[in-house]
Order: sequence, then C-alpha cells, then structure tokens
Amino acid sequence: MRLSQGAEATIERTSAGVQKIRLPKPYRLQAIDDRLRRSRTRREAKILQKLPIPGPQFLSVDDTSMVIEMSFLPGKKARDVLNARNAHLLCCEIGKMLVKLHDASIIHGDLTTSNIIVSASGHLSFIDFGLSFFSSKIEDKATDLHLLKESLESKHASFWEEAWEGAFLGYLSSSKEAALIKEKLAVVDLRGRYKHKN
Ligand SMILES: Nc1ncnc2c1ncn2[C@@H]1O[C@H](COP(=O)(O)OP(=O)(O)OP(=O)(O)O)[C@@H](O)[C@H]1O
Ligand SMILES: [Mg+2]
Repeated sequence: MRLSQGAEATIERTSAGVQKIRLPKPYRLQAIDDRLRRSRTRREAKILQKLPIPGPQFLSVDDTSMVIEMSFLPGKKARDVLNARNAHLLCCEIGKMLVKLHDASIIHGDLTTSNIIVSASGHLSFIDFGLSFFSSKIEDKATDLHLLKESLESKHASFWEEAWEGAFLGYLSSSKEAALIKEKLAVVDLRGRYKHKN
C-alpha cells in the first residue's frame, strides 16, 4: 500500500515496515539523477543507523534500486497535529530533540513539520534524513533552526510565532552552545531575508 508519493520518494507499507523508494526523475539528466538518488539513499541509510533520537529503525538499504527499508512509525505528521493551543509545547519538544541530534553532530537538513511524526500518545519522531549530514559547525546547526523557523512561518502562519518561540526556547534551554547558536542564527536569518528580497 502506498503511504505517500512525495517530490523525491515513494513510501510503501510492507510487512516489515515501510520502503522508501527513490524513483528516477525523467526531467533530470540521468547521470545527475543517479548520483543524487544514490547519495540521498546512502546518506539516509547511514544516518538512520546512527540516530540518537526517536525515528524509524533501519532495516536495509539497496543503493542499486535506491530503496531503504525501515520500521513504520504510527502517528500523524506534526504538520497535521499542530494548532495554536499545542504549538508551544510540541515545538519545545522538537527544539530539545534537535539539540540531541546536533549533539551527535547530525544536521537534519530538511526539518519541517512534515518530517516529524507525532504518535497517539504525543511522542515525537524525526524522519526524512535524505539531506542530512555530519557536522558540528555552529553555522550548520543554526541553518537547521533557520529552516525550521521558515517552515513554521510558511506552513503554520496563524500561530507560527508561538510555535517558533517554543522551538527556540526548547533548543536554547538544552543546548550547551546556546549563546553561539543564537548569535549565528541572527546572521543566518538576516542572510535569508536578504536573499528573499533580491
Ligand atoms: N518510517 C515511516 N513510518 C511512517 N510513515 C512514514 C515513514 N517514512 C515516511 N513516512 C510517511 O511518508 C511521508 C514522506 O516520507 P519522507 O518525508 O521520508 O519522504 P519525502 O519527503 O517524499 O522524500 P525526501 O527524502 O526526498 O524529502 C512522510 O511525511 C510520512 O507521512
Ligand atoms: Mg519529507
């Protein structure tokens, strides 16, 4: 059964869990497409095997057919669960989880509320590590936060300020590098605004 057909991948439910299949993109030059699909498949498989936070359990990878098999996470996307009442608390949890990821020198690379699963009991898991990479640079961590902020702003426009306040407080309260990250985020945010205007 097909669970999702995204821009980059198809997610199929299997007996063991789910398969994430990166099908060829006909509009991309084949050599480039192969390289991109292979690198994203490998990255995701590698990160899943080192994940220090709740997320899918890695089962297998095939970088010829570009298929990763992982456990199925029951729940809903944070995007569909967040509202004005729960945003502050849930996003605070997201911020704290992001610190744990960053403390293991993993940058998510695409942290949006579509890439976070909320279980029925309210527990969070991160998914979609195809753009993730290893880095302990302050700038990369700040960029992860900047992307989260932008996604809250665009997908949860009516309450994004509360959501972001929660995420930022959650992050800063548990990060040992809070002051440095805060300073760098201001620079990354400014750069983002400049880019949008030009
Ligand atoms: N392990 C999983 N358990 C349950 N649902 C999943 C799982 N992995 C993915 N999904 C569902 O499929 C959707 C798409 O998955 P995912 O975000 O990994 O891929 P994508 O965004 O299409 O691809 P890309 O990695 O290129 O960004 C998710 O938003 C989620 O609803
Ligand atoms: Mg996704």
